[in-house]
Amino acid sequence: MTELQTNTKPILLSGIQPSGHLALGNYVGAMRNWVNMQEDYFGIFMVVDLHAITVRQKPAELRQRCLSFAAQYLAAGIDPDQNIIFLQSHVPQHAELAWILNCFTYMGELNRMTQFKDKSLRYEENINAGLYAYPALMAADILLYQTDLVPVGADQKQHLELTRDIAARFNNTYSPTFKVPEPFIPEAGARIMSLQDTEKKMSKSDSNENNYISLLDPPDVIRRKIRRAVTDSATEITSDSIHSPGVGNLLTIYSVLNNQSIDDVVNHFSSQSYSDLKNELADALVAFLEPFQNRYDTIMKEKGYLTKILDDGAKRARYMASKTLTKVHRKLGFVPAGRP
Ligand code: TRP
Repeated sequence: MTELQTNTKPILLSGIQPSGHLALGNYVGAMRNWVNMQEDYFGIFMVVDLHAITVRQKPAELRQRCLSFAAQYLAAGIDPDQNIIFLQSHVPQHAELAWILNCFTYMGELNRMTQFKDKSLRYEENINAGLYAYPALMAADILLYQTDLVPVGADQKQHLELTRDIAARFNNTYSPTFKVPEPFIPEAGARIMSLQDTEKKMSKSDSNENNYISLLDPPDVIRRKIRRAVTDSATEITSDSIHSPGVGNLLTIYSVLNNQSIDDVVNHFSSQSYSDLKNELADALVAFLEPFQNRYDTIMKEKGYLTKILDDGAKRARYMASKTLTKVHRKLGFVPAGRP
């Protein structure tokens, strides 16, 4: 609950929607960076359940996934003493600020959002106002905490640019209120693609489970998915393999797991067969995920531990968020409310 911690380091904020299963792509593209950056930043890491209900969710599954995702943040190595981990719905200021920011967001801007267009095609039967206003909620997530840096995938860059525009618009209309955040897009080399459809990035919500490695997949499932991953009609690794979408993706995953440059990995496998690559990659994945899964199991079994971390995280988040929201109310001209 100390302000001290947040004052000394710049603020890093990110969130993942509790849908599907956290996948290797989430680890490489997001969680790994969070862990590596926690030395230099004060991290605010959310499970964004309010965002998730823009698409219908089954209540029991949503509840389980929120807890499971938070436990996986911890298992990945986020230190809850140095950072804040919480569930978005535990901090009512997100929905409150989102309403206000809706009034500072133009329909013309929302109409341009590619994620809205994609999801409207995918969920044709449920194009709701929440799906449309989603970027204003994301802006609220970020602006409530006077965030400095937001690490996101390339697909979220448009939302982040809109967040910056909304913040600047509010600041210009009144007076400086929100910090205008910077995006941090991790290097393209570490982009993990789908195992079957190498045109798409590996997505945790893919309807075909063979497209992704879940961080909680047991060893036999990992081996099967890697064995089935698409390659090409050649049979052995050469320096050209990196340009082959399927084989290149497997080499990239191997390089990320082993912290080796892609050239070193190509050298290592040079003239070996695709099945050698797949076997060694599957071994590396199993070895990497085993300690992660053990930590996860321990966290999930320890009754009360996770709840305590989430309660504490939400309490600290509410404290920080309410400071910004009070300032926003004052600037807008809302009459201060009495203490409850
Ligand atoms: N929209 C993001 C996604 O779909 C998730 C998200 C919600 C987020 N709020 C955020 C990411 C704030 C970064 C910061 O991936």
